[in-house]
Amino acid sequence: MTLTFTRHRRLRSSAALRALVHETEVTKDDLIMPVFVDATIDGTEPIPSMPGINRYGIGSLLTEIKTIVDLGIRAIIVFGIPDHKDDVGSDAWNDDGIVQRAIRRIKASYPNLVVIADDCMCEYTSTGHCGIVRDGEVLNDESLDYIVRIAVSQAKAGADIIAPSNAMDGYVAAIREGLDKAGFINVPIMSYSVKYASSFYGPFRDAADGAPQFGDRSGYQMDPANRLEALREAASDEREGADFLMVKPAMAFLDIVRDVRNASDLPLVAYNVSGEYAMVKAASANGWVDERRIVKETLTGIKRAGANLIITYFAKDVASRIDRGE
Ligand code: PBG
Ligand code: ZN
Repeated sequence: MTLTFTRHRRLRSSAALRALVHETEVTKDDLIMPVFVDATIDGTEPIPSMPGINRYGIGSLLTEIKTIVDLGIRAIIVFGIPDHKDDVGSDAWNDDGIVQRAIRRIKASYPNLVVIADDCMCEYTSTGHCGIVRDGEVLNDESLDYIVRIAVSQAKAGADIIAPSNAMDGYVAAIREGLDKAGFINVPIMSYSVKYASSFYGPFRDAADGAPQFGDRSGYQMDPANRLEALREAASDEREGADFLMVKPAMAFLDIVRDVRNASDLPLVAYNVSGEYAMVKAASANGWVDERRIVKETLTGIKRAGANLIITYFAKDVASRIDRGE
């Protein structure tokens, strides 16, 4: 009697065969590179908790953008560090604010680069919270007004996509209405739909100087334990008119990426966040993991889980790896 079992290894027996049955490939078109623009500097300032990532002043910004464009990356997401903070984050919707100036500059030199503007208040408020605070509470409806103003101001500056991340309810509907009224009917909204209250944002908060001055964000960002709630968040954003949905962070939430992928036909973005970047960098700096292979495996996993687009601090590294045919 012959033993019957399946020879899976048949399809793994040569590099050529493996290439034929290879299912998932991350391409340059999948990548979105984050860029930090800083009103308090002109040159470049490294971010200690994110080795290889810098803040750029207006004077040094275009050199970095040229590098990104030359690598064949099609999209960036811009975050601003203002030189002044107040209760209402007024620099966030200032037409002459750091992000608005940066966007005008970038679009003037690189009109084909897709510039996504992160629409939030935490880098601009003295409280470090993502909305308006009264009596220790982050107010939902009052904050919507501001998030709309920011969106319109970013669109006026030339942003191609508005990406609201302040996790207030109803922001997609409010921003859509605001953009339409201001004549920006063709500017899409990429909503941070499923945004968990995560410790993986630590390095970003150093980078963008946006840590909450009291409390945390669990009154408005999601509990990492919740899965069904993610579907409700995605569904309401879709109903309100979001053009892209997002899950953030990525690595510890790949089940959620798959759930949202299965529940909606909208393009889905996963945000491979700062803490995920910092962990890989720290381990590889110690020689404990092979950075290039870890990054490839991670981003492949995110895409395999169902993401169409990945916001990642590794975007430049990945694009050059692709150029080298690795
Ligand atoms: C602003 C914002 C944050 C991130 C993106 N937009 C920080 C936060 O919500 O605390 C995190 C990105 C990262 O960690 O890479 N709301
Ligand atoms: Zn915020």
